[in-house]
Amino acid sequence: MEEKKIMLSGIQPSGDLHLGNYLGAIKNWADRVDEFDCYYFMADLHTITVRQNPADLRRRSMQQLAAYIACGLDPEKNTLFLQSMVPQHAQLSWVLSCYTQFGELSRMTQFKDKSAKHKDNINAGLFTYPVLMAADILLYQPHYVPVGADQKQHVELTRDIAQRFNSIYGDVFRIPEPYIPKAGARIYGLTTPGDKMSKSIPEGCVFIMDDDATIARKFKRAVTDSDRENCVRFDPENKPGVANLMSIYASVTGKTYEEIEKEFEGQGYGVFKPAVGEAVIDTLRPIREETERLIKDKAYLEQVYREGAQKASYIANKTLRKVYKKVGFVQI
Ligand code: TYM
Repeated sequence: MEEKKIMLSGIQPSGDLHLGNYLGAIKNWADRVDEFDCYYFMADLHTITVRQNPADLRRRSMQQLAAYIACGLDPEKNTLFLQSMVPQHAQLSWVLSCYTQFGELSRMTQFKDKSAKHKDNINAGLFTYPVLMAADILLYQPHYVPVGADQKQHVELTRDIAQRFNSIYGDVFRIPEPYIPKAGARIYGLTTPGDKMSKSIPEGCVFIMDDDATIARKFKRAVTDSDRENCVRFDPENKPGVANLMSIYASVTGKTYEEIEKEFEGQGYGVFKPAVGEAVIDTLRPIREETERLIKDKAYLEQVYREGAQKASYIANKTLRKVYKKVGFVQI
């Protein structure tokens, strides 16, 4: 039997999961679980590049694990784990940092954005973060890395680092491909259609754990456009708010933009916005309810992360040993 291809991705538990994380990443993972050998993790090591409250970080890491399972990532079929429980991530990160150039890291958009936002804490971790992400990926030799569009640059840097390393030492790493969804790759804030949806603007951010009434309210208040045309038409340049709502609707219903335009022909935003809200509520409600149920089952979650860390370490260690040998460290 042909071996399954490998998929790997992670999310930082630095905030509660939102619709952008779901449509840009998790939904895309869950849709492909049967086709691939999958590794999904909570990128907790990454979160401390920005100060975290320790109790909140622990709570969100567990909630994220519960949400992964609730979104359809069955722990029997996927390896689910917490990054900090697999020491090889930090170990490989050090090695790779010696094969990454200062100039490359200086060009990373996320570094520029975050260092502008947190001027009082531009720490070395924030700068070298993409190297840790490269280690996260390369340890598992994945074929694909399913992420939203904002992470594409980091996956491209990962490819560059891997190619550089391979060109010196031979074929150590598989060169991974970013795997970006057609609809949902970049979800914008409902109140700020120029900025990506993120927890930092909570009014325009729909969280996976928001109740139905909150989701409905956020969609009713969504910004549409200023041309007063009141017509549902896909035109991201002139109608970014409407285009964003259309891509959310397309992503949760599977409909095309043409089908959506037809469905709402002759009806204004007053009908369209609540309809998108309802579709999102129908998608998120079962996930929220299942997440709430799983969070209470601490013993089960503990079993999942213990087994996940064991499986992940086993695979990660194989790659790390190879790397250590290649660079010339004495083997035990
Ligand atoms: P993070 O935690 O910021 O986001 C997790 C995933 O959600 C996607 N995403 C979005 N997609 C569409 N629209 C949005 N508004 C939106 N906001 C977030 C992101 O693209 C991402 O796929 N560095 C990564 C985490 C990470 C990682 C990895 C990912 C660490 N190591 C290894 C893949 C492989 C990050 O900060 O994503």
